[in-house]
Amino acid sequence: MKLIINNDVCTSCGLCREECPSKAVRVGKENGEYSIYQPFCIACSHCGIICPVDAITTDAGEFPLWENPEIPPERLEAFIRGKRSVRRYKKQALPKDFIEDLLYTGSLTSTASNRQEWEVSVLTGPAVRELGGEVIEYYAGLINLIKNPLMKIILRFTEAKRYINSPDTFKRLEKFVNKFRKGGDPLFFHAPAVIILSAPKKERRFGKTDCVLAGSAMMYTAAGYGVGSCMIGFAETAMNLNKHIKTAGGVPGGNRVHLVFTLGYADRGYRKLPIRKKMPAAFKG
Ligand SMILES: Cc1cc2nc3c(=O)[nH]c(=O)nc-3n(C[C@H](O)[C@H](O)[C@H](O)COP(=O)(O)O)c2cc1C
Ligand code: SF4
Ligand code: SF4
Repeated sequence: MKLIINNDVCTSCGLCREECPSKAVRVGKENGEYSIYQPFCIACSHCGIICPVDAITTDAGEFPLWENPEIPPERLEAFIRGKRSVRRYKKQALPKDFIEDLLYTGSLTSTASNRQEWEVSVLTGPAVRELGGEVIEYYAGLINLIKNPLMKIILRFTEAKRYINSPDTFKRLEKFVNKFRKGGDPLFFHAPAVIILSAPKKERRFGKTDCVLAGSAMMYTAAGYGVGSCMIGFAETAMNLNKHIKTAGGVPGGNRVHLVFTLGYADRGYRKLPIRKKMPAAFKG
């Protein structure tokens, strides 16, 4: 998106220059006119949404008006506390429009330097079980490798060490695989939809943070509509370690998966809230 300053409207108040996080707003030495130095601009929109006289326009349309949503902070806290990871879903499919609106909400969140370098893959119906099958076969292969004494030594130096160091965790993994093979779904819990957020591998500094912020907004918004979700780390790990599984999930080969979550109408409610430990805090100053 490109932003430009219309000098017929600009009153030279200086607000946009003060606001710009990229030092992209400049004042002409000769004519005193305000302009945007495009190579520095990250298209964050701050200048345009603060300008008191609408002197800044874009090639992507008009800035929508800001409205105070008037959410009392204590209600927001109660809402955040009340969102659970849902592992039981109604069979009912989610309307496509609903999912599209949710993705749009996710795309409204902040990204590092406003890069918005992410992609989303939406699996519904049989595609969920198909990806589940691929992920499960990955873990079945890992179980076989761990059973090989030589491989077990090598795998001690990889992510698989958690299954080698703990026989209980290994047994749980075997049960997990068997349950799926018998028609159960301990991976995606028979959810009607699975959302996968990924970013190009070159976005190694903040790709994960950007995707998690967007996914988090999607999951909280969904919860507001009674639609549950659960992050699935098992699938994220398998997709990043095996290109074939990533492709099965509709993720471009050059991307790294940063968040996978299920989505569906929750088939369970809770009477109370969980107890959490306080985040350790260090205050200075
Ligand atoms: C990064 C991450 C990965 C997770 N992976 C899984 C998973 O693979 N399967 C699962 O059932 N839950 C998974 N969860 C859900 C957590 O177990 C859950 O958030 C935690 O137990 C707290 O419960 P709550 O979300 O209902 O408050 C994951 C959560 C996070 C944050
Ligand atoms: S905020 Fe608007 S009016 Fe003020 S200097 Fe910038 S473009 Fe001009
Ligand atoms: S869009 Fe953001 S980075 Fe670009 S000039 Fe305006 S405030 Fe600066």
